[in-house]
Order: sequence, then C-alpha cells, then structure tokens
Amino acid sequence: MNYPSQVKLVDVGPRDGLQNEKEPVPAAVKIELVHRLQDAGLREIEVTSFVSPKWVPQMADNAEVMAGIRRQPGVRYSVLTPNMKGLEAAIPCRPDEIVVFAAASEAFSQRNINCSIAESIERFAPVVEAARANGIYVRGALSVAVGCPYQGKVSAEEVERVARLMKGIGVQHLGVADTIGVGTPRVVRRAMEAALKHYELQDVSGHFHDTYGQALVNTMACLEMGIWQYDSSVAGLGGCPYAKGATGNVATEDVVYMLHGMEIDTGIDLDKLIDAGKYISDFLGRKPNSRAATALLNQRAA
Ligand code: HMG
Ligand code: MG
Repeated sequence: MNYPSQVKLVDVGPRDGLQNEKEPVPAAVKIELVHRLQDAGLREIEVTSFVSPKWVPQMADNAEVMAGIRRQPGVRYSVLTPNMKGLEAAIPCRPDEIVVFAAASEAFSQRNINCSIAESIERFAPVVEAARANGIYVRGALSVAVGCPYQGKVSAEEVERVARLMKGIGVQHLGVADTIGVGTPRVVRRAMEAALKHYELQDVSGHFHDTYGQALVNTMACLEMGIWQYDSSVAGLGGCPYAKGATGNVATEDVVYMLHGMEIDTGIDLDKLIDAGKYISDFLGRKPNSRAATALLNQRAA
C-alpha cells in the first residue's frame, strides 16, 4: 500500500467539540485548549464559529476566543462562517481560513442552516469571494456525505453534485463529513471518489464522527486512497446540535496513535496531546473519549 508519509490533522475540538456541550465553557478554557493543542504540535485548529448565537449559544464568545489566542507562527486558525454576517464578524479576528458548510441532503441543509442547498450556495458565493479577496483561504465542509439523520442514506451522486457546486463558487478545499458517523469503508470511499471528481487529492479531507466506531477504519480506507488530511477532535469531543445522537469526531489521540504506529508523520507529540485532552475532559468532568488516551493514561498511573 502506498500510504502518505505525512498526514495533516486539523483539530476541530474547540469548535465541533465545544459547540455541543450543554454546560457553558468559559472563553478562557477554550483559549487554554487551543494553546495546549498548538503546544502539542497541531498545525491547524478550528477555533470557533461565527454563527447565530440563537442557534448555537456555545459559540457566542467567538471574537473573545479569537482575540485571546497567543498565535504561534506556522499554526493556522480556522473558523466557520455560514453567511456574510458571519464573515464580516470574523474578518477583524484575522482567521487564516474560513469554512462554509453545506449539506449533501436537503433535509440537513434546512435543519442546520435554515435554507435549501441551492440557497446555501447562493449565500456562500459572496462569502467565498470576499474571503479570498481578503487573502483568507476557503475550506468547505460537506455534511451528511454518507448518511443523514433525516433522509437516511445519501448517494455518491448527491455528494458529487454539491462538490461541483462548491467548486463552482471558488471553495478551495472540500472536507467530506460523516456527520453522524454511520459510514463504513466502501461508502466512505465512494463519497470521497465523488468529491475527487471536482477536487484534487491535496484539496480533500475527511471529517469522521465516530458514533458507530467506524471513524478509524474509514480513515484507513481514505489513507489507502492517498488522502492525507483529516479533521479530528481532541478527547473525541464533538457532535452537531442539529444531528441528535451523533457523537464526537474521531479522537485526535486515536488517529495519532494509529498513524505513528504506521510510521506516518503528524508532527504531533502524543503525550502532550493526551495532556490537552485530559485538560478539557477534566474541565467537563469526564474521561477523554479516546481509547489510546485511556490506555496511555492508565499506563502513566501504573
Ligand atoms: P436564519 O435564522 O435563517 O438567519 O439562520 P437570518 O439571516 O434570517 O437571521 C436571523 C437572525 O440571526 C438575525 O438576528 C441575524 O442578525 C442573526 P435578529 O435580527 O433576529 O436579532 N444572524 C447571525 N448572528 C450572528 N452571526 C451570524 C448570523 N447570521 C444571522 N453569522 C444561520 C441562518 C445560518 C445564521 C443559522 O441557521 C445558524 O447560525 N446555523 C448554524 C448552525 C451551526 O452552527 N451548526 C453547527 C456547525 S456545522 C457542523 O457541525 C457540521 C460540521 O462539523 C461537518 C459535519 O460534521 O457535518 C462542519
Ligand atoms: Mg462535525
């Protein structure tokens, strides 16, 4: 197998993870988490989202969090922006990258961003144009690429269609997301192949929630395709408020453990990453949702 020799992981814990917590997490804790992630070697961190605070109150402190981060050279800080209002609020916070997020199913698009897929593309077009004019890189997330909590199965044709629309408005990178973690390797590969009809290999990433315990094996299936960029979430934090029952993203610790075992470089210090996961898990009053972190923490305690 021709696996990539290096993998880039984007930790989405501060955003995807903490957007889903019932109890408020103070901005200072979010900032400290970002600091610990960058100290562990993460080179891209999805920090927050500029969405409606009525929809996702957990991210209402977006500007405060962005302002509090001690920026480290070589680290990219990304934020979600669903519309012009979000982009206008984000620009003064100097993100390196913004994320517009569409869905492969109409039902999820309506529930998550309150508009149809076609309307979302219309809404994103000026956001993409303005971001790029400001020198900000534009990533797209394509939700429910293999399964939707409202529609059920999602076909590769549906993924291909929205990938084409995203490409058409100038979205530079496409993250293929299994929002509810139902995917298995063959369907995930088919979704990736659909995205690869419109995006180059270096412009595609995987974003796998681990609800059914399939995220690592799906990552492996994509590594075999040469895909070398993945979102993951420290301590397995995460979920989407509009995808009830879906659990967190695959734990960054688990992905790093697997990749290092395969002699694939990530630039991440697993010990420091585990400390970052323990920090936020202690704050939330639970154990990290990562098998590798649990095993290594038990080993440390012994
Ligand atoms: P809407 O209600 O249709 O928007 O929401 P609107 O334009 O009609 O505006 C309504 C109100 O919201 C107005 O305020 C606006 O000013 C305000 P009012 O006049 O009533 O006081 N508003 C905003 N405020 C702050 N920031 C903004 C903003 N936009 C409007 N950007 C909207 C449409 C998209 C805003 C809403 O549906 C929304 O915020 N949705 C966010 C959903 C979300 O954050 N979901 C989770 C992230 S996506 C995810 O987790 C999936 C991912 O991880 C990949 C995967 O796993 O699939 C990325
Ligand atoms: Mg997600």
